[in-house]
Amino acid sequence: MEANSKWQVSGGVAERYEENLVPVIFIPWAQELLNRAELIVGEAVLDAACGTGIVARLASDRVGPDAKVVGADINAGMLNVAKSKSEEEGKLIDWVEADVGDLPFGDASFDAVFCQQGLQFFPDKLSALKEFRRVLSLDGRCVICVAQSLEHNPLMNGQIEILTRYIGEDAANAIRAVCSLSDSSMIHDLFAQAGFSKIDIESVTLTLRHSDGKAFVAGTMSSTPAADAISILPEETRQELLQEFLNTFGSYYDGHALAFPHVSHVVHARV
Ligand SMILES: C[S@@+](CC[C@H](N)C(=O)[O-])C[C@H]1O[C@@H](n2cnc3c(N)ncnc32)[C@H](O)[C@@H]1O
Repeated sequence: MEANSKWQVSGGVAERYEENLVPVIFIPWAQELLNRAELIVGEAVLDAACGTGIVARLASDRVGPDAKVVGADINAGMLNVAKSKSEEEGKLIDWVEADVGDLPFGDASFDAVFCQQGLQFFPDKLSALKEFRRVLSLDGRCVICVAQSLEHNPLMNGQIEILTRYIGEDAANAIRAVCSLSDSSMIHDLFAQAGFSKIDIESVTLTLRHSDGKAFVAGTMSSTPAADAISILPEETRQELLQEFLNTFGSYYDGHALAFPHVSHVVHARV
């Protein structure tokens, strides 16, 4: 439960997260965050709770090859995938194993700090935001996104229903944690308490798409912290679970492709 609520994965799950979830979910959100930060060439960027590092990798294209770009995460498996992907893409990015509550960087060492779908998993959210503010320069900005509640997010809602039914409450907890920080006034208070000013919180809905619904549900279920529990189910039960998961999308599935809403708060705050 403790590891699950921090979205901890092991084995080959980090590779599958990169392969299955990043193109459909995390690239579109990363572009949203990067557009709002208005990065300029040469700016220093931190991707906090970077996972496989998609925000850092895309930020690197915007700030150029000579700028400092760093990704930090507590999960070594996620960082290994981040490192091999950035090497493959020919990008110079530093990958650092660190807890967001105690970042190993000097004061005012970044122009922008991003945190994509990470804040909801931190046990001490205020300490993390204070750290983000500490490492930002005087004109620095922090841009993050956090998923809204389950009723707005059919993907997570369906996953929870199916994991609870086929595996148990505990297996659904990592997904429940994704939507656990949906109150925008609470998010605003946390940023204000951490000392940020000009805190803008916007509700953003993206339509996420996959041309093969069956492949997407199989890929998604194999890329979360519940993947191991699913992989040991008898094959027939696993196939039934995947079909039932696909059914939860209702009219968002047309028999071939999926197109479903994914709703988050996007926060843009200044030091
Ligand atoms: C849903 S993933 C999002 C990853 C990434 N930001 C992306 O857009 O793909 C959440 C990440 O938060 C990381 N995480 C959770 N708690 C953390 C902490 N206290 N410090 C650093 N990283 C943390 C997890 O290891 C995981 O990689």
